[in-house]
Amino acid sequence: MSTNINNNGLPNIDDLQNLANELFKALPNEFPKEISLSPDKAEHPRAVKIAETILHAGNSDQFGHIPAVSPSSVPPAPPAFSGFGASPSVSNYGNTGASALYPNAGAGFNPQNRNSSSGVEENHDLNMNNPHNGFYDSNLKNGNSPQLNEESLFSVFSLNHQYLPFQAENSSFEIELQAALASVDTQFKKREEFPLNGNETANSYYFLDQNPFAFDKRSTDLIVGNSFDHKEIQLFKGHYFDASLVKKDFPILRETVNGKPLVWFDNAATTQKPQSVIDRIAYFYEHENSNIHRAAHELAARASDAYEAAREKVKAFLNAGSVNEIVFVRGATEGINLVASTWGEQNLNSGDEIIVSNLEHHANIVPWKRLADKKGLKLRVIPVDDDGQILLDEYAKLLTSKTRLVAFTQVSNALGTVTPAKKIVEMAHAAGAKVLIDGAQSVSHMKVDVQHLNPDWLVFSGHKLFGPTGIGALYGKEDLLNEMQPYQSGGNMIQDVTFEEIKYHKAPNRFEAGTGNIADAIGLGAAIDYVTKLGIEAIGQYEHYLLEYATRLLKEIPGVRLIGTAKDKASVLSFNLQGYSNDQVGQALNKEGVAVRTGHHCAQPILRRMGVETTVRPSLAFYNTTEDVDTFIKTIWELKKVRF
Ligand code: ALA
Repeated sequence: MSTNINNNGLPNIDDLQNLANELFKALPNEFPKEISLSPDKAEHPRAVKIAETILHAGNSDQFGHIPAVSPSSVPPAPPAFSGFGASPSVSNYGNTGASALYPNAGAGFNPQNRNSSSGVEENHDLNMNNPHNGFYDSNLKNGNSPQLNEESLFSVFSLNHQYLPFQAENSSFEIELQAALASVDTQFKKREEFPLNGNETANSYYFLDQNPFAFDKRSTDLIVGNSFDHKEIQLFKGHYFDASLVKKDFPILRETVNGKPLVWFDNAATTQKPQSVIDRIAYFYEHENSNIHRAAHELAARASDAYEAAREKVKAFLNAGSVNEIVFVRGATEGINLVASTWGEQNLNSGDEIIVSNLEHHANIVPWKRLADKKGLKLRVIPVDDDGQILLDEYAKLLTSKTRLVAFTQVSNALGTVTPAKKIVEMAHAAGAKVLIDGAQSVSHMKVDVQHLNPDWLVFSGHKLFGPTGIGALYGKEDLLNEMQPYQSGGNMIQDVTFEEIKYHKAPNRFEAGTGNIADAIGLGAAIDYVTKLGIEAIGQYEHYLLEYATRLLKEIPGVRLIGTAKDKASVLSFNLQGYSNDQVGQALNKEGVAVRTGHHCAQPILRRMGVETTVRPSLAFYNTTEDVDTFIKTIWELKKVRF
């Protein structure tokens, strides 16, 4: 601050004004950009006082209200799994010894504290002398909005509200000031204030009546002029899953799109992230960031422990036999490419055959086709019936002594078909082939147990499991992984290097060359904690109910062709609407805030098999509600009514 002192003994008013205004300019949109409590801003004593208060508040207790947060050599515990959707619990963190590093571990992270009005948040102390200055980001409404987080903003407001001078006065200044503050909207809403949709209540389905899983009678009113059969059906009993509460754990689901609450129905493309995942990644960069496995210092230990703890979580999630069977990769696509370019390159020879299914995503076709073209292999395809179901009899006919690999998806991303994975694996093994399961679309919807399914490899992506992008896992049987040549070469994957000879680590390190995506692996661990806490079986049952609900309503709209009608389906409702291009349908839904994918879904062979090039594809997750479905259905009905 300027040291110029004016006649009143106060700091120079221009300097104070400029500093105060810089602060306000740095705040997100909707903040007033100038302190303009009087026409004569430069001279206004209130502006001086505000600026003075703010400038002193963060770094001293001059006003007797701002407790200093003393830096600690030991960081607070990382955020434990928590959320509205499942009760906050004590952190499990540190099962590789991290508890020694985090004496506070177990204190937990309580989201309720996020709105504390104390003005000081653990880990989020505000220092006005050192404001957060954001990088330019044109996606933020004011371009240069800073990266102030919710806690910081609430801290700012606590400061303003609690510690402004003359607060007790009922002066015109005070009235003017309070009015100005009241008009400020931080754009962040307190979690408790996050509005529930429609008739949703805090602790039950909004449609809950006697039967918690009964179809919603409101739909009759919703879609005027069209009759629905409202037979109540009991899809499952004894399970309670509160999607409206769960939804609150996902900050992005508070967004509005075109003035409407966001309905995220693009979960097969990527899922949204709960606050606990976001917090865990931030915590890593605030308290643990270091390279792993490479140094004796404190942060290297923290980062390595957290990374390896995440591997443990993946292992437990898949019920793998050992952490050595879990390789961190960028995602399912990289996992498949890894197997193709290591095991495939090493073991497949001209004349060998690879079987894939007609349902596959391009990621489970292209690497094999390229390998086949390069090595003279034959790619054979398991056909599906008109509902999009694997034809096991036809599969049996394809299996011969030439079959070296069967690579198939557990859930089709384009149609939602759940394949008979265990049976397919058994049949492949009986023929002497290895098996790779693409679990990208299954792990978020059902229990995937690799010891039960018994594939040789299984891949999935973190971002489809409520975790970050750029991280995923390859499961592989330990002996098999150790027989495979490394994928990429560099640091971290070697035991010993001379110019004459290189010795590789065993799995998993042998496949993790270079510095990996440490933070996001840890974020994936937090996502697994979250999903595990909700219970994957309960998730599966709730989603099954939601899919039944949506399917039933969608099928009743004239002009809708549902593509993919397998008996066993997960999450996906692919369809076309007569009279409209798929993009038109997608755009109409977007107007109502509903996000769906339209296009070929990176699965052209199966769409062509079903007689189409593209579809509209809503895909569901556990944070979607029947009210979300109603919004979607209502829009399709309205489109239908316009054209025919
Ligand atoms: N595989 C993702 C999808 O199905 C991207 O949309």
